Amino acid sequence: MHLQIILGSIREGRRSGPVAQWAFEQATALASKHAGLTVELIDLKTWALPLFGLAKFPSEGDYEDPLQQRWAATVARADAYLFVAPEYNHGYTAALKNALDYLYAEWNRKPASFVSFGNAEGARGIQQWRLVCVELEMAPLPTAVHLLDVTKKIVDGVFTGDPKEEKRFGVMLDELTWWAKALATARAATLEA
Ligand SMILES: Cc1cc2nc3c(=O)[nH]c(=O)nc-3n(C[C@H](O)[C@H](O)[C@H](O)COP(=O)(O)O)c2cc1C
Repeated sequence: MHLQIILGSIREGRRSGPVAQWAFEQATALASKHAGLTVELIDLKTWALPLFGLAKFPSEGDYEDPLQQRWAATVARADAYLFVAPEYNHGYTAALKNALDYLYAEWNRKPASFVSFGNAEGARGIQQWRLVCVELEMAPLPTAVHLLDVTKKIVDGVFTGDPKEEKRFGVMLDELTWWAKALATARAATLEA
């Protein structure tokens, strides 16, 4: 099983950077519990995807743009996604929505969860994101990781979650890997049928 952690804030000095690094370390530390789990951190800032403006609908699957093709090949590698992004105006980030909009089939029939924070622990952004995931035929989990007091917990550029947040991350990863295996099996069976 391959998990991609997708960092969805591209802002200068973003707090999501240390949070995504923490999520990557948590998932890597727990990988032995989930035999065969590999983890990759993907930073949308380094991808620098322009605002989606391509002529063809991604749902048609005919990707002509070379950057879109590279993004598709990267996203296709994963069996599950964990998005890390803050709440912006009671939604999630435009950079993340743009990255989702670029593709279609690569997201389909795969589970996803979210790590977020903000004055309502990112809850409003996560609710919006779940609806978008359904339209992309993903399986968004009810279990997400809501972080508290992120600013105070970043010291010298390193975020450290408290024990409750680490426990919550573990529960979320259990769920995510369960769904990743179930849906990978189902996808393989569908291909064979
Ligand atoms: C454009 C913008 C909108 C924001 N809207 C909200 C919001 O609706 N709710 C909230 O709790 N925080 C909001 N914030 C605060 C951010 O969640 C907080 O600053 C966070 O650190 C931003 O994540 P980042 O540093 O990774 O970009 C907003 C910040 C920005 C830049």
